[in-house]
Amino acid sequence: MNGLNWQRQAAGVWHAPVGQPSALSPLAWMRQEPRHEALQRLGEAELPLRLEEEVRVERVGAMLVLSFPLTEQEAVYGLGLQFMRMNQRGRTRFLRVNSDPKQDTGETHAPVPFFVTDRGYGVLIDTSRIVSVHCGSTVRLEDTRPEAALDRNTDSGWTATPLSGRIEVRLPEEGANVYVFGGPSAAKAVSRYNLFCGGGVLPPKWGLGFWHRVPKLYTDKETIAEAREFRERGIPCDVIGLEPGWHSRSYPVTYEWDGERFPDPAGFVRELAEQGFRVNLWEHPYVSPGAAIYEPLKPLSGSHTVWGGLAPDYTLEAAQALYVRQHEEKHVEIGVSGYKLDECDGSELTNHSWMFPAHASFPSGSDGEQMRQMYGLLFQKMTTDLYRKHNRRTYGLVRASNAAASTMPYVLYSDLYDHKQFVRALCNASFGGLLWTPEVRKAGSGEEWIRRMQAVCFSPMAMLNAWGDGTKPWSFPEAEPVIRHYIELRMRLLPYLYTAFARYRFEGLPPFRAMPLAFDSAEQYRAAASAKGPEQYRAVSASRGAEQNRAAAAMGPEAEEVLNTTDAAYGKRKTREWDDQFLMGDDLLVAPVFAGERERDVLLPPGAWYGLETGVRYEGGRIVRVEAPMERIPLFVREGAVIPTMPARPHAPKAGERTPLEWLHFGQAPGRGLLYDDDGETYDYEQGRCLWQRAEVAAGADGVLRGRIVEENAGAASSYSDVTWRLGLTKLG
Ligand code: GAL
Repeated sequence: MNGLNWQRQAAGVWHAPVGQPSALSPLAWMRQEPRHEALQRLGEAELPLRLEEEVRVERVGAMLVLSFPLTEQEAVYGLGLQFMRMNQRGRTRFLRVNSDPKQDTGETHAPVPFFVTDRGYGVLIDTSRIVSVHCGSTVRLEDTRPEAALDRNTDSGWTATPLSGRIEVRLPEEGANVYVFGGPSAAKAVSRYNLFCGGGVLPPKWGLGFWHRVPKLYTDKETIAEAREFRERGIPCDVIGLEPGWHSRSYPVTYEWDGERFPDPAGFVRELAEQGFRVNLWEHPYVSPGAAIYEPLKPLSGSHTVWGGLAPDYTLEAAQALYVRQHEEKHVEIGVSGYKLDECDGSELTNHSWMFPAHASFPSGSDGEQMRQMYGLLFQKMTTDLYRKHNRRTYGLVRASNAAASTMPYVLYSDLYDHKQFVRALCNASFGGLLWTPEVRKAGSGEEWIRRMQAVCFSPMAMLNAWGDGTKPWSFPEAEPVIRHYIELRMRLLPYLYTAFARYRFEGLPPFRAMPLAFDSAEQYRAAASAKGPEQYRAVSASRGAEQNRAAAAMGPEAEEVLNTTDAAYGKRKTREWDDQFLMGDDLLVAPVFAGERERDVLLPPGAWYGLETGVRYEGGRIVRVEAPMERIPLFVREGAVIPTMPARPHAPKAGERTPLEWLHFGQAPGRGLLYDDDGETYDYEQGRCLWQRAEVAAGADGVLRGRIVEENAGAASSYSDVTWRLGLTKLG
């Protein structure tokens, strides 16, 4: 085949069509205008590869293979919501949507065909079909050096995956549209990808408060009583989620209220609203024969059913209209704030097959493979557009997604429950326009309960999902004060977190960022990750017994972990991935701790950092070891950070409600901070009804630190009043 025909699409973005891709694809479906001005502000980009010469395409029988060069050290990140590792180098990722991704194959709830490498560029394959990405897991004959074939028995350098010089992408037979995003850093390439997809999402303020989902068969009265208990116990909460039992029938669903459990839905939603709660409704795509929309939807549905319910073809306007009208009348107009879009993933490879097959056919002409890859996006878009029509922002949950989803107000979740994987997924989501919640459901001990709750409070959605276990934040009495403390801390940080999301919206910068996105370059990241020395252990060692010290020393600052059992027999190890810590906004670093741990290594980006709750000062650009008693999750704030905060309140401020604002500045270094504000609920900000403030803290001639607003761009009145400053802090008071 000939070379590709690359065309510049926007600043630092190039496009080439391959083959004859079908019209249905994530980018085409989402129909979001690229944010050209913001892309322009990032500037043109020089790519670290020559597109014309180094990107190859080849047809092998019915298959189309696209390939990109890889340098020896290059790391490959992204490819959607991956649970098992962060750097995908050496792995083949089979990007099929799957509700039960227990194996490291690449399948997942959100198999986004977008990767970014630490040479500072990204690639998107825009298609509604399955793509396989060989991330340096294949070696072509012409690239193979005979001397690289080692003897596993005797050569310690033997690896299962010899060094490969290429990423090979197996495209769908029909081809796909391919986009390349420049950097120069990996973080910039990710921002460009998000901006090209329309920018990031700005959730309503209430979406960033605490969420609680009640057991599946709760009645209106039980739900209201549980909500009231949050207020009585002084635990902030903004959203109450209902699970399957609100439907008259679920699995398949009717989308209609159950007359016995919820005799007066409007009154129920109103009563909760009066106490400052929003209501979120669980649902899934498969429509019950008992639903009023069943008959009209039937001719607009696929060839196969799921649990006896229809799988509607929501690429059809007529099908969309039926769904939208029903939801509008029965939910949106009575004040329901959004949805949890469940079960829109599915795979026939799991031990319980329930999804329609890839060979299902749909009236629009799409097949089951396409519909499965696209289903999550179809629902996200339909529901978001419905709320937009009412000039209301929504925020909810979804269990399947794909590319071009950054504008969608949806957070991914899973039935998996490994805490480390949950934190890794939070990191990996940041490489490709996704949001993820490490939701809390249950715990085997008060300690695990605390560790999970601490981590979820620093995530895109702080949620307890008690649908099956009936847990409550106070289920472990000894843990309640710690949990209250962290939910309150999240509320205090709401102005800061909301501003981080505004930067996502307008600049494409993810609000939560994995460590490779927290450094200016791969070199800086690698240098910090290998900067370790005995001095970082001193503070911790002093407080520990000799035996613990020996154990920690044996573990070593490298903290290497065994790759897998087969390789372990041959003595193979891999270096630690920093996939258990992340940035929240620019200035806070979160380092979750897992049950059983009382200390951990933390990789700090360059500059000085303070333990947010300890006041200990650390020199960054290296690994430090910190203590983590059960009541504390290690949090770090950058020296010089100027962070907008508010008092912890029972729920987020409503539109028009005024709250005091306090700017907190850390350390003695001068610094800058940012505040974004708007009504927190509508899309009026898109008409400029919003406010940006830049704060600056610096010492005057007298050496005294002073804070002031140096720049203001006010299209709206601030919802904050009584502005105060606390400067030169070493920790949060
Ligand atoms: C699962 C979902 C859970 C819960 C449950 C209710 O599919 O992941 O969070 O909603 O359905 O049946």
